[in-house]
Amino acid sequence: MKLHRRAVLAGSFAGSLAAGLLPGRLLAQGDGLIRRPIPSTGETVPAIGIGTSRRYDVAPDSDAVAPLRETVAKFASLGGTVIDTAPDYGRAEEVLGRILKETGLREKVFLCSKVAARGREAGEAQIAQSFRRLGTDRIDLIAIHNLIDPQAQLPLLRELKDKQRIRYLGATTWAEGQYGDLEALMKAEKLDVIQVNYAVDARKAAERILPLAKERGIAVMVNVPFGRERLFTLVRGRDLPPFAAEFDCKTWPQFFLKYVLSHEAVTCPVPGTAQVRYAEDNLGAARGRLPDAAQRRKMEEFIDGL
Ligand SMILES: NC(=O)c1ccc[n+]([C@@H]2O[C@H](COP(=O)([O-])OP(=O)(O)OC[C@H]3O[C@@H](n4cnc5c(N)ncnc54)[C@H](OP(=O)(O)O)[C@@H]3O)[C@@H](O)[C@H]2O)c1
Repeated sequence: MKLHRRAVLAGSFAGSLAAGLLPGRLLAQGDGLIRRPIPSTGETVPAIGIGTSRRYDVAPDSDAVAPLRETVAKFASLGGTVIDTAPDYGRAEEVLGRILKETGLREKVFLCSKVAARGREAGEAQIAQSFRRLGTDRIDLIAIHNLIDPQAQLPLLRELKDKQRIRYLGATTWAEGQYGDLEALMKAEKLDVIQVNYAVDARKAAERILPLAKERGIAVMVNVPFGRERLFTLVRGRDLPPFAAEFDCKTWPQFFLKYVLSHEAVTCPVPGTAQVRYAEDNLGAARGRLPDAAQRRKMEEFIDGL
C-alpha cells in the first residue's frame, strides 16, 4: 500500500517536473492544490495542513467529535493530507485516531506526531502510546517536540525509521528563544522536517532558520501561522487590501497563509483547523497564485502599519 502510494507520488512529482513546473507550483492531479516536495525524498504534500492542538482535545465519546470528524473529512475530500498532532495535546491523538478509523482515511493522511520526553525509555513509552492512540502501525513523521532531549530521542527516531515504523523524523519549536538550539541541531544532524512558528507579523524564522532549512534540504512545517487569535484581532473590521486579489486571495486567513506559503523554504503551514468552513477557507490558500517578493513586502508593510 505504502509503496504504491509513494510510487504514485513520485510519478506525479516527475510528471510535474517534466511539464516544466517549478517545485513551488507543483499541482496535484485534479484538486488544484499547490504541492511542495519534502527534499529528503522528493515526495510531495499538499501545501496546507491541519493542526490539532487545543481544539481536538475533547472527550473522545462526546458530541464534540462530530464537527472535528466533518472537518477532517472535508479537508481530505478537498485534497488535504497533512495533519499535525502530539501526545502533549491532551486527548487530540486519541480523537484523531478515532476519526481516522471511522472515516477510513488513515491511508490518505500524512500523519505527523511528536515526542516530548526525557530519556530513551520515556520516549519509547510515549511513542508506543502515540501508535496506540492513533490506531496505526505507521506514523509518517515524528518530530522532537520543542527540542526536548534530542540526544535521547534522535537515535530512537532513527531506529524507528530503519524499521519503517515512521517515514520521516524532525524537530519543532515555536519559541524564538530556541532558534539557536534549533539551528545547531539542523547543522549537526540529518533532519527530514522542522516545524517552526512563522507569520506575517512574526518573521524572525526567516532570518536564519528558513534559509538554513533550504540550504540543508529540510522540509518546513509552519505552526501558529495566525499567531492563534493575534492576527485576526489585528485586522478585525478591516477589508482586505485591493492588492490581495493579485494573488487570488479572498479572505484574511488566506492572506496570512499565502504569505507564509510564499516563502521558498516553506513546505506546509498547519493552521489549527476545527471547523469545516475553516478547512475550506484555509485550503483555498493553496490554490491560485502566491505573492511574489514585491507583493510579500507590501503585505508586511500593510500589517506592520496597523
Ligand atoms: N512547538 C510545536 O510543535 C507547536 C507549537 C504550537 C502549535 N503547533 C502546531 O501548529 C498548529 C497551529 O497552531 P495553533 O493552532 O496554535 O495556532 P494558529 O494556527 O495560528 O491559529 C489557530 C486558530 O485560528 C483560528 N482559525 C483557523 N482557521 C481559521 C479560519 N479559516 N477563519 C477564522 N479563524 C480561523 C481558529 O480559532 P478558533 O478555533 O478559536 O475559532 C484556530 O483555533 C497547532 O494546532 C499544532 O498542531 C506546534
